[in-house]
Amino acid sequence: MINYVYLILCIPLVLGYDDGTNVQLWTCDGGPRQQWMMDSQSQEIKLKSDGNCLDITNWSKGNGANIYIWECHPDDQPQNQQWSYNSTTYTIASKLSGKCVDGSEYGTSDGTNIQQWDCSGADNQKWKYNSSDSTFRYGMDSTKCLDAGSTITPCQGAAVENLPFCNTKLDVAVRVKDLISRMQLSEKISQLGTGAGAIARLTVPAYQWWSEALHGVAGSPGVHFGGQIPNATSFPQVINLGATFDMPLVYKMGKVISTEARAMYNQGQAGLTFFAPNINLFRDPRWGRGQETPGEDPYLISQYVINFAHGMQENDANKFMKTVVTCKHFAAYDLENWNGTDRFHFNAIVSDQDLVETYLPAFEACVREGKAASIMCSYNAVNGVPSCANSFLQNTIVREQWGFEGYIVSDCGAINCITATHHYTSNPADTVAAGLLGGCDLDCGSYYPKNAQEAINKKTITEADIDVTLTRLFTYRMRLGMFDPVNDSSYHSLSPADVNTADSQDLALNLAQESIVLLQNNKSVLPLDPKLSVAVMGPNSDATTTMQGNYHGTAPFLISPIDGIKSMASNVTTAKGCDVKCTDDSGFKEAVTAAQNAQAVIVVVGLDQSQESEGHDRSDISLPGKQEDFLMAIRSATKNPMVVVVMTGGPVDISWAKANADAVLWCGYPGQSGGKAIAQVIYGEFNPSGRLPYTIYPKDYVNQISFFDMGMRSKPGRTYKFYTGDAVYPFGYGLSYTTFNFTWTEYEKLPLKFQVLDELSTVQYQVTVTNTGSKSGGIAVLAYMTYSDANAPMKQLFGFQRVELNPKENATLFFDAGVEAFQTVDEGGSKVLKPGSYTVRIEGLSHTITLV
Ligand SMILES: *[C@@H]1O[C@H](CO)[C@@H](O)[C@H](O)[C@H]1NC(C)=O
Ligand SMILES: *[C@@H]1O[C@H](CO)[C@@H](O)[C@H](O)[C@H]1NC(C)=O
Ligand SMILES: *[C@@H]1O[C@H](CO)[C@@H](O)[C@H](O)[C@H]1NC(C)=O
Ligand SMILES: *[C@@H]1O[C@H](CO)[C@@H](O)[C@H](O)[C@H]1NC(C)=O
Ligand SMILES: *[C@@H]1O[C@H](CO)[C@@H](O)[C@H](O)[C@H]1NC(C)=O
Ligand SMILES: *[C@@H]1O[C@H](CO)[C@@H](O)[C@H](O)[C@H]1NC(C)=O
Ligand SMILES: *[C@@H]1O[C@H](CO)[C@@H](O)[C@H](O)[C@H]1NC(C)=O
Repeated sequence: MINYVYLILCIPLVLGYDDGTNVQLWTCDGGPRQQWMMDSQSQEIKLKSDGNCLDITNWSKGNGANIYIWECHPDDQPQNQQWSYNSTTYTIASKLSGKCVDGSEYGTSDGTNIQQWDCSGADNQKWKYNSSDSTFRYGMDSTKCLDAGSTITPCQGAAVENLPFCNTKLDVAVRVKDLISRMQLSEKISQLGTGAGAIARLTVPAYQWWSEALHGVAGSPGVHFGGQIPNATSFPQVINLGATFDMPLVYKMGKVISTEARAMYNQGQAGLTFFAPNINLFRDPRWGRGQETPGEDPYLISQYVINFAHGMQENDANKFMKTVVTCKHFAAYDLENWNGTDRFHFNAIVSDQDLVETYLPAFEACVREGKAASIMCSYNAVNGVPSCANSFLQNTIVREQWGFEGYIVSDCGAINCITATHHYTSNPADTVAAGLLGGCDLDCGSYYPKNAQEAINKKTITEADIDVTLTRLFTYRMRLGMFDPVNDSSYHSLSPADVNTADSQDLALNLAQESIVLLQNNKSVLPLDPKLSVAVMGPNSDATTTMQGNYHGTAPFLISPIDGIKSMASNVTTAKGCDVKCTDDSGFKEAVTAAQNAQAVIVVVGLDQSQESEGHDRSDISLPGKQEDFLMAIRSATKNPMVVVVMTGGPVDISWAKANADAVLWCGYPGQSGGKAIAQVIYGEFNPSGRLPYTIYPKDYVNQISFFDMGMRSKPGRTYKFYTGDAVYPFGYGLSYTTFNFTWTEYEKLPLKFQVLDELSTVQYQVTVTNTGSKSGGIAVLAYMTYSDANAPMKQLFGFQRVELNPKENATLFFDAGVEAFQTVDEGGSKVLKPGSYTVRIEGLSHTITLV
């Protein structure tokens, strides 16, 4: 039994259960923080010491929302504090939410937060009330008690303040080494899970490594968002960010998200280590999480992760990292659950060529240029070895070849998958060794903390192996400033006032605007005249949270397409027609009538998380249910302009709309101001400039290639690089309300021939782009390489740049084709430079170089 908890009880300051203090699990010490009384009349659970109440705040009713101690009835919502204790099931359920007090499986160590969760009656929701000492003891470990929460200030107190790890003048490496040298083995083991326990003896606070910020600060077990501080800015889904091709704005977004994260952290509302970005390549249109990625091109994803990581992580002047990003999911993860095989069981068979050419480049960019501090290993296996136990991928490639110095965290539960679903190991000692020695430092889950001692006993790992891992982990906690006086970092003063500012709202709107792709605009029906009466319809016309995709927080506001259009047009009627599933056509009639009575129709079709999500792939890439029938019914009803807006994450075969609508817009999941951005594009206040971040395949594609087939060249080929069929719309497609002309600048200076081995150096292409139309607008100029080698991709993006031009204005853009742009990957996975001809193509211009 560890009794260091008594030490901290001697210091009144750490008894902090002020209003809003989190409730935690802590080793039972019988102290006043753990003594409760149950008032059966008011149904309150009170601390005996001061009569304060166990409380769920009225703004945090969701799963994973924290439980607090608060003055009894601090507001007019006494129900927040009413609980029913069931002495048969030993559960404590909230009367307000119906959810149970839960000691999460992701954190059962001391100092781990208590949350509310749907009542399952599992042991982690059982609390045995012991009337003799007035404690609630935890169902999974009766030495742990429901505790009013202690605050530990690192490096405070005579016992530690003069120790080297607390000496801020020393190098981080020296401090980390000293801290680890003072830990006992059991304490070290308690640090191996994402719900890392407190080590009160050394003033190491508990830390939850898991926070989310895919496209805005989202959530985390053990913390909640909302409440006293305004809601985090909800940026467009990542697939939209790919469609902007505007990486300087992605960098800005990273800065805003990390600022908001720091402000929330300062309030105890978020961690600093985020499980984003998702940089798996969008290989197959069925993938339910393709929406979370910047698209299907390795170069585009690489540029995305570099900019996102820099925006999120960059140090302040005092060298404190702002936040940590985690590039996920390593490697070859891009399938949820298809034809009876889920991601926990899937073994991705990947050729060396595809690995080097397609699946690894974004991760290499994440490490080398992005300097991301963390990588997450995935649930699936790669060529028979579970990713989190894959020493070749994690140690040989990431650490040795790429020089990665950060830590690798498992996807949540993935260490358990090594044995439970992949059957790669058959006992806990071997499983811990497979993961830890295979290169995965931190278990998002509790497999390591529960089983590492056994692995030590059985000598499958050593304490020194754990030290290697802890060195990586504590290096980042220290670089984030967690062991320095709070005010030493310039982030300490960030507060709720820095969240959801006018500037960040503008940025979210601007990213949404730039992400919208104009796919069709026959006879220039767009921009629409706002004086026309318009009928707005379709399943996503009133979309709100749908516009946030997944991994989002509660947005400060959500402007639906209807709201956006109503704010710009004066004569608007609405008729939904059907919901996203669109199995019921009883609403079609009303919509047909509305279409007949309006001078223009805007139909917002598409998907939502019921169709594509984590754990859920599509088997069909058509519009769901009768959505296409709905479009047909509306088209038959009117010859007036019909605008189809496609709100989806993954690609949907919209051939019918392409042939029959007057205008088609793709809008992804455009975030909090999505409806405003859509309306601004439709009415011409914003000139569209987005380009598709993926190929839109015809619906038969899913019958032509197995989702399990990871081969990029497997017939009929995957992505714009290899797909040989006719796309409905290709990668990179996108129109504007203005026209652009492109000319080479200094074309005569471009080389025509190089010796393969020694002469090739960077070739700089200069292109002058001129706005030759009558409207101002932006354009993302894309530069591709094409190859004469039959084994090479049909083309490969190697540069892009977005500019804004007024009518008649021009800009000269520079595109560097370095050796990498000429290299191809051979079947053995080697990068090679082969003799042959190489043609650079930039928006209709081309130039060929021969390598001899
Ligand atoms: C937070 O977001 C919710 C839902 O979008 C909204 O109702 C609420 O007003 C927001 N709160 C603040 C403080 O912005
Ligand atoms: C830290 O800074 C805050 C203001 O940002 C100030 O109120 C506080 O007194 C400072 N604390 C110390 C110990 O200097
Ligand atoms: C709105 O448009 C409809 C159809 O074009 C027209 O009949 C109606 O008078 C308009 N309403 C207003 C207030 O202008
Ligand atoms: C719009 O133009 C495309 C080709 O540019 C054509 O296939 C389609 O039928 C046209 N749509 C309408 C409604 O005329
Ligand atoms: C899907 O599963 C069924 C039943 O197990 C099998 O017959 C079929 O071949 C599978 N399809 C693919 C493409 O793997
Ligand atoms: C672009 O401008 C150049 C030079 O003015 C001209 O020769 C060319 O025809 C133009 N291209 C297009 C597509 O208009
Ligand atoms: C670009 O604009 C400048 C300034 O108007 C003009 O001098 C130049 O000729 C233009 N360049 C091209 C290639 O059109």
